Parts: sequence; C-alpha cells; structure tokens
Amino acid sequence: MQASIFSGQVTAAAIFLCVGSAHAACDFDIAVNDSMSFEINEMVADSGCETINVRISHSGQLAKATMGHNWVLSKTADYQAVATDGMNAGLENDYLKPDDARVIAHTKIVGAGESDSISFSPSGLEPGGDYTFFCSFPGHWAVMYGKLVVQ
Ligand code: CO
Repeated sequence: MQASIFSGQVTAAAIFLCVGSAHAACDFDIAVNDSMSFEINEMVADSGCETINVRISHSGQLAKATMGHNWVLSKTADYQAVATDGMNAGLENDYLKPDDARVIAHTKIVGAGESDSISFSPSGLEPGGDYTFFCSFPGHWAVMYGKLVVQ
C-alpha cells in the first residue's frame, strides 16, 4: 500500500538505482578513526560497475602501528581464515598473507591522516553471493567487519 503514496512521483532513474532497500553503488568512501569500526556495516555494490572503487580514510590520531585499519574483501566463508593467517604477516604486508588467493581486494593499512584506495572489477563477484569486508589488523577482524551485498 505504501508504494501507492509515491506512484507517479518516483522517476524511472530512481527506480533503476534503488533496487530493494539500499542504493547499489560503484564508489565507496569509508571513514575510520581511533575505534575498531567502519562507519558502515553494509555496502551494496552494483555488479554492473566497470570497477568498484573503495577509499578508506583514517581521521583519527593514532598511528597505523597502534590503530591501523585496512579494508579487505573475501567470501564470508574465508574471512576468518584470511584474518587469522594475516595476523602473522606483519604491517609490511598489510597483515595479509602475501598472494592470498582468498582475498578478492584490499587496501593498505592506514593510520592517522592517511587514506588509500582500491579499484577492482566486479566480474569475480556473484550477485547474491555472501561476502564480508573487514580490517585485518590483529585483533580487529572479530569486531571490525561488515557485509558486502552484490546486486
Ligand atoms: Co582496524
């Protein structure tokens, strides 16, 4: 019944861009700070994007050795193992096992005042698949994560 309130007012463009409850997008700007959290816990990516572009920006005061964050994407089924293996890889490897094939995309670890961006093709992502983004800094992954939805 709610839909009738808006009928005739919603443009075709808006219907195209807003599938379901959230906007599917190609570009994501994610803020992080001195807490172990991303500002969002869900991202909705459009499988039709040429590339998916993710930027992570650290607005806190703490250096990356203390409160570093990255943005790592894997299948949800792989996420815990990727994070655990990454713990020992060190900051120089952004706390990820080098050449870990389970990692779909990732930024570098950033600290206070830093940012990093990554662009990747959505061709390896299945619409409706189960994906998790997380920070692989030791101790963060268990609380610093979210869901990536592909539409
Ligand atoms: Co973190």
